[in-house]
Amino acid sequence: MNVIRDCSEIQYHMNNQRKLVLYIAASADGYIAMPGDDLRFLARVQKDGEDYGYADFLTSVDTVIIGRKTYDWVLTNAGFYPHADKTSYVVTRTEKPSVGSTHFYTGDLTDLITTLKREQGKDIFCDGGAEIVNELLRRDLIDTFIISIIPVFVGGGTRLFQDARPEQTLTLTDVKTFDTGLVQLHYQRERTAQ
Ligand SMILES: NC(=O)c1ccc[n+]([C@@H]2O[C@H](COP(=O)([O-])OP(=O)(O)OC[C@H]3O[C@@H](n4cnc5c(N)ncnc54)[C@H](OP(=O)(O)O)[C@@H]3O)[C@@H](O)[C@H]2O)c1
Repeated sequence: MNVIRDCSEIQYHMNNQRKLVLYIAASADGYIAMPGDDLRFLARVQKDGEDYGYADFLTSVDTVIIGRKTYDWVLTNAGFYPHADKTSYVVTRTEKPSVGSTHFYTGDLTDLITTLKREQGKDIFCDGGAEIVNELLRRDLIDTFIISIIPVFVGGGTRLFQDARPEQTLTLTDVKTFDTGLVQLHYQRERTAQ
């Protein structure tokens, strides 16, 4: 066995494997929604001509993982599903027929993500919400974090990060600041070849 060659092959595979990317906005005190699924605090940073890199980010992904509550929230508030052009998995415990390329996934999350990562394609977008993010974090499946911090303490609501997760070390790869006060943190999950 050539250990050096095997390790470098694992490293090559890890570097080239498609990544699961969390792109999400949170208040400075760590909430993604205020009570009652109120997202009006996001309006603080709305500015004509500024999308905080979202459109570019969307070109880097072709698959979306989204919690059923977030999916419903988007449909109710936007009136349509904005990722219908991509393959989506709405994570739920209730089986439902697919709508075009949007599938309602009731199976094991680890199986889904590890299978998707092995396939060829662009990166995979985790669009929240918090329940799904924390399920993925408990399984250590998220590779890249792009977290936009909104300059407000909302005081309560849906926490982005919940307790009972394993420690995960991160590399800070970028920090972007905007004149609206939004700060965007870019992290990579540190992984070593075993
Ligand atoms: N600030 C932001 O950028 C941002 C981003 C995304 C979402 N949000 C907000 O976050 C809120 C929703 O987040 P949330 O944490 O309440 O809900 P969520 O994560 O979007 O969805 C929760 C649902 O996912 C399903 N689920 C969770 N764990 C599961 C598992 N292990 N297996 C199978 N299904 C599972 C269940 O669906 P069933 O009940 O169907 O079984 C559960 O009710 C909304 O207000 C949304 O607008 C904010």
